[in-house]
Amino acid sequence: MSNKIINYKVQPGGKFTGDITVPGDKSISHRSIMLGSLADGITKVSGFLEGDDAIATLNAFKAMGVKIEGPINGEVSIHGVGMQGLQKPAADIYLGNSGTSMRLMSGLLSGQDFDVTLTGDKSLSGRPMKRVTDPLARMGAKIDTADGKAPLRIHGGNTLHAIQYDMPIASAQVKSCLLLAGMYAQGKTTITEPGITRDHTERMLQAFQYPVEVDANKVSLEGGHRLKACELHVPGDISSAAFFMVGASIAKDSALLLKNVGINPTRTGVIDILKLMNGDITIVKEYQRGGEVVADILVRSAELKGINIPAHLVPLAIDEFPVLFVAAACAEGQTVLTGAKELRVKESDRIQVMVDGLLTLGIDAKPTEDGIIIQGGQLTSGTVHSHDDHRIAMAFAMAGLRAEGEIIIEDCANVATSFPGFIEMAAKAGLSIAAETQS
Ligand code: S3P
Repeated sequence: MSNKIINYKVQPGGKFTGDITVPGDKSISHRSIMLGSLADGITKVSGFLEGDDAIATLNAFKAMGVKIEGPINGEVSIHGVGMQGLQKPAADIYLGNSGTSMRLMSGLLSGQDFDVTLTGDKSLSGRPMKRVTDPLARMGAKIDTADGKAPLRIHGGNTLHAIQYDMPIASAQVKSCLLLAGMYAQGKTTITEPGITRDHTERMLQAFQYPVEVDANKVSLEGGHRLKACELHVPGDISSAAFFMVGASIAKDSALLLKNVGINPTRTGVIDILKLMNGDITIVKEYQRGGEVVADILVRSAELKGINIPAHLVPLAIDEFPVLFVAAACAEGQTVLTGAKELRVKESDRIQVMVDGLLTLGIDAKPTEDGIIIQGGQLTSGTVHSHDDHRIAMAFAMAGLRAEGEIIIEDCANVATSFPGFIEMAAKAGLSIAAETQS
């Protein structure tokens, strides 16, 4: 992981045309390493995201004795060690910025017979972990935290028991953590979600032939089954494509084709919200690949309108709000988001950080306890801070398409966690963007 300071400089204007293929889905890439490592046999993955977060997961499993070849051009071969085959790592496992690695692995590692400590960077060490350690403790896991936060010291050798868990928050990370622990528990673990969250874990467990039951908002599995290696194709990440969907919507005279984007129905909130805002988005080709739905998506310029974002779409677009706030800044009228308190505990406090940046850029934006109110207007120019949050950096880069003057975005190195090659792809599509490195 890089210690360099990278600032983006974005010149105003530009239009988005042509076609692009965004890198692989981050959520699916993490899960491919976790399940592939525990499977019997060799799992071959294509389209793997070569970003810092997914690589942190890959290195973690290598440190626990799994032979993993690649990634080379997105191809990874994982020599699975079976459900009981992981080995105690020689040192603490550092997971960088990656909340998904830490939360999912805490479940999986609670079922091992060795102790292991998970650490992370400053942002990850400030994020809430009790949401996973509390239900894991109910299953019999023993995890020491630093007042509910990382580092997590996970003690091995405990017998886990299945639980019935009603999740207090809609979180795919919590659900997935408990499903992974449930594979090691005695009995049937059932998790009830208060709202729909991404279901990549359930889909991938099925691809590895691990029996899972899904019934409306309940998902259950029994401990003690095995995973069978398989071939996985990781589609492009809709959360990365979202920057370009908003970019092509707000820039004048644009028509951009986004190829090979995962449109799993638990992830398409950004498309629904942009369409409600009068966005011009067409699915031109749709196909199934490895248990996931994939599409080519055409996005054209549109006169966006402010809306009240429907509550049920919040978990389906949870990572896309920074850039949706930029869309709202360019829309006519007011956009109101509520029920999105979770945004305050992502890689940064995404409500406050976006409000601060939008105000700097001349937009009337107000934070609320669980959301934001944005009055569409004219983006001006100025220097904003990403607060080391990849999605904040990329969201403000898109704002340049409709700004009056230059936008400087400070501290963008973490874009590498989810979107290697972002600058090049944004420039190819039509954004005037350059990176400046300070050492
Ligand atoms: C993720 C789930 C989401 C999302 C995160 C990735 C996952 O978090 O914000 O970027 O891969 O399961 P929550 O489940 O905590 O909402």
